[in-house]
Amino acid sequence: MIGIGVSKWELDTPALCVDLDKLDQNLTTMKAKLASTGVATRPHAKTHKCPAIAKLQLASGSIGICAAKVSEAEALFAGGVDKILMTTSNVTANKIRRAMKIREANTSFIQAVDYAPNARDLNDAAKEAGIAADVVIDVAVGTRSGVPAGRQALELAQLVDQLPNLTLRGMISYDGGAQHIKGFKTRLERSLKNYEPSVQTFEMMKKAGLNTEIFSGGGTGTTTS
Ligand SMILES: Cc1ncc(COP(=O)(O)O)c(C=O)c1O
Repeated sequence: MIGIGVSKWELDTPALCVDLDKLDQNLTTMKAKLASTGVATRPHAKTHKCPAIAKLQLASGSIGICAAKVSEAEALFAGGVDKILMTTSNVTANKIRRAMKIREANTSFIQAVDYAPNARDLNDAAKEAGIAADVVIDVAVGTRSGVPAGRQALELAQLVDQLPNLTLRGMISYDGGAQHIKGFKTRLERSLKNYEPSVQTFEMMKKAGLNTEIFSGGGTGTTTS
């Protein structure tokens, strides 16, 4: 943490200024809130883009850190953060190779995929790197991103499971819009309704004997009352 104790008027901009007491309080609140639920946190680093904060989140009990872009994942990894899950597919061959470089160096790296050709490209890149890449399928809620829930998602999960250089770890499914709804009750109702197809997909995967150890959804916004 560079700049602790330095006057804000002396900071070079852009500068990320953090109230460490508030940050600490937020970490404690989130941990306490989820303690009895059996739900783990894997916070998204796109909100802070800061390895130091990611490390604090991991130290307070988060099971991993999410990254939206391969450049974010690289910066986190270079900053000493592991257990990174990339929530978006890497599309170009260059970015897939870069993601697989992180996976080569760190076995806890997990990559989301949401369509079959991308899973095949990822499998080829993993093969070239001599590794098996850990993968979650991204199941769509509405139109944000991801493979449509249901049969298409199941088929993608089966493909990932069958490709020799991929290891299926489960699914992610994120209702981004729900984070912004005011009022816990309304947000809960919408979330339960919108996640129904994702839950059905999870059950279909389980029934098909696929690995469902990860079922990730929700976010900071859906936990607040
Ligand atoms: C795929 C995905 N999952 C979860 C989240 C929630 O992140 P957080 O828990 O840090 O709010 C986000 C944030 O946009 C996301 O893109």
